[in-house]
Amino acid sequence: LTNRESYRPVYHHTPPYGWMNDPNGMFYKDGVYHLYYQFNPYGSTWGNMHWGHSTSTDLVSWKHEDIALSPDAWGSIFSGSCVVDHDNTAGFGAGAVIAIYTSAKPTPWGDCQTQSLAYSLDNGYTFTKYAHNPVLTSTERDFRDPKVFWYAPDKHWVMLLAVGQEMEIHTSADLKEWKKESTFGAKQGAHGGVWECPDLVELPVEGTGRKRWVLICNLNPGGPFGGSAAQYFVGSFDGKTFVNESPAVTKWLDWGKDNYATVTWSNAPQERCIALGWMSNWQYQAILPTKQYRGENTIARDLTLYDQGGELYLKSSPSPEIKMIRKEKVSMPSFNVSDTYEIAELLKDNSGTYELEMTIKNISAGKVKFCLSNEKGNKVDMYYDMKRKLFVMDRSLSGKVDFSKEFPAVTVVPIAETKEMQIRLFVDKSSIEAFGEEGKFVMTNLVFPDAPYNRISFQSEDGSYKVSSLKLYKLTL
Ligand code: FRU
Repeated sequence: LTNRESYRPVYHHTPPYGWMNDPNGMFYKDGVYHLYYQFNPYGSTWGNMHWGHSTSTDLVSWKHEDIALSPDAWGSIFSGSCVVDHDNTAGFGAGAVIAIYTSAKPTPWGDCQTQSLAYSLDNGYTFTKYAHNPVLTSTERDFRDPKVFWYAPDKHWVMLLAVGQEMEIHTSADLKEWKKESTFGAKQGAHGGVWECPDLVELPVEGTGRKRWVLICNLNPGGPFGGSAAQYFVGSFDGKTFVNESPAVTKWLDWGKDNYATVTWSNAPQERCIALGWMSNWQYQAILPTKQYRGENTIARDLTLYDQGGELYLKSSPSPEIKMIRKEKVSMPSFNVSDTYEIAELLKDNSGTYELEMTIKNISAGKVKFCLSNEKGNKVDMYYDMKRKLFVMDRSLSGKVDFSKEFPAVTVVPIAETKEMQIRLFVDKSSIEAFGEEGKFVMTNLVFPDAPYNRISFQSEDGSYKVSSLKLYKLTL
């Protein structure tokens, strides 16, 4: 477990060894955040799916626990969720942790996917499979990834289920008997691939007393830059049916290539809605240049909604706990960029795990450019295009990129009309996550540099700008 491959992240969650895809079954109880994940303990490619398990008290440092769920007669264990059954509705005990997951059994005519239950009476460390599994079956081939939550006004459980290119909504009083209530998805959003890993959460709209429901919908392929990605819909939910309030727009949860299977923690404290995504893309996950393990998760993000021009969008802010691992702080004096400006050394002993936070003002430039680079000639170009109102990240020369033709990529996000910009870049051994305006946009991209990026150069095009604040923090556990 002490294995330290050079690309193994320091403050992002990874499996101890083997393969990881989707985060599963996240719940919080008694001060502990539990995170399960699609895990192959027998190799570094997909197969033999189990639920691996990790715990954390701060959402940043993770402890490896024993495997929580292993394949059985109904098949291997695909994605799903956990709930805390405070009122003993299922009869396994008050406060039991109940996992609702997909059992996937290969047959000669394709996977047979059904929904199963397992319960834990020790807060999620060990599970017993329910004797009468499966609890929900179908003739559909793609029928999976149950996300369950308690809908208090109607005193029933709600299950979101990904079925083909739609989401089904089922309800239950006891988690065992389910009734289909509605289907969502026809003519809604992006349909470039199968819909997977749903979630449905009620979120406050910043600066108002209002709340709206957000349906998170991962799809593969069909993402904005190819392969897998997460879209979402904002609307209303009455306990049985979700209605999208702005069907004309496709909203993306993350504008990089590497944030998939995003779902949220159940039973989170202080009404927080905390999300986590698998920091990868099905296009190339199986051939990423790591060896003993494959797969990492994004940093945790707190979700809220904000209004922009009458339209509601998700804000994904870095969960505040990340600030606790800021170890050294370097504040650069402010400077103007009217041509180029270079900081040759970001940090002394830069081991490639840091946060860069900056504010950019007094902008007359058409493009505000900055580039992270290293002495090996690897670089990641980023810029704000003020005329076209975009933020762009180009990882095509970021380091190792030639293992897949889908990897070298330029990712682009629309930004609002603005006079100044604030951005936080989270750099780890093999990733960059850019959060603009505390999460009004987020762009997550894997990178595999030959040495840490320890230099930043700024450029302006058609005018100038001022970097009024630039702070660096080493991030270590
Ligand atoms: C998404 C997914 C899920 C499925 C799991 C299998 O990445 O395809 O739909 O449950 O992975 O590992």
